[in-house]
Amino acid sequence: MSSVPTTAAAHPAIASNGLSKWFGEGSARMTAVDQVALVAQFGEMVFIVGPSGSGKTTLLSMISGILRPDAGTVTINGQDIWSLSTDQLAELRLNSIGFVFQDYHLFARLTAAENVAIPLILQHHDWNDAIAQARQSLEVVGLKDRGDILPVKLSGGEQQRVAIARAIVGAPQILILDEPTASLDGDTGKMIIAFVKEKILNQQRCILIVTHDARINEYADRIIYMEDGRISEPTRAAL
Ligand SMILES: Nc1ncnc2c1ncn2[C@@H]1O[C@H](COP(=O)(O)OP(=O)(O)OP(=O)(O)O)[C@@H](O)[C@H]1O
Ligand SMILES: [Mg+2]
Repeated sequence: MSSVPTTAAAHPAIASNGLSKWFGEGSARMTAVDQVALVAQFGEMVFIVGPSGSGKTTLLSMISGILRPDAGTVTINGQDIWSLSTDQLAELRLNSIGFVFQDYHLFARLTAAENVAIPLILQHHDWNDAIAQARQSLEVVGLKDRGDILPVKLSGGEQQRVAIARAIVGAPQILILDEPTASLDGDTGKMIIAFVKEKILNQQRCILIVTHDARINEYADRIIYMEDGRISEPTRAAL
């Protein structure tokens, strides 16, 4: 619990209000996310836990600018992201938000370094510069010597670290991980989360993690529970 910010930032890293999403029409309509108000501060690693189908991925998708809400707002560092134009939102996602998908989403025919370089290429960095920065990012995740290797030759834990290296290469303020330990054995999963907390979390960054994995709860600064599209936060004493 050491990483709670000591100085208040001007804005919370993430804030949502009345955030809602429903799918289907008429009698088939179901509410996936129901008026969620949450706040996450810079310097915090916040977990969202809840049963399958409770709306966690839908919530993350709206917070990270991937899925447009049906109601409510999301602000990232004070910016109302869903009032931005498509181009502005794409730029914000590229510069401010790193997203790690459950199944890594690595390109099989690109090397680890090339995979990590993708966000920089999209930001129009020169190729050699992008690869050099990608190698630095791989070094941060402990894969300094694995840059020229194709994903298929990496272990699950190493592939996950490549995905994390790619999510942080542009130094985003917000890092979002959806089930980062789901495909990993218990020890590797714990190591990845401990590593993210120690090396990736800092006072200028906020990390949001969706997880089913109770073994990693000890690393959370705060745990938000989600059920039937709604969130609740237990008191500290109940944890
Ligand atoms: N594109 C979609 N179209 C229709 N229904 C959807 C869509 N995406 C999600 N849902 C529904 O919304 C609800 C919440 O789904 P979501 O994927 O957010 O849950 P989750 O908490 O991430 O589950 P899991 O832990 O299994 O990943 C589910 O009932 C799901 O079937
Ligand atoms: Mg999900």
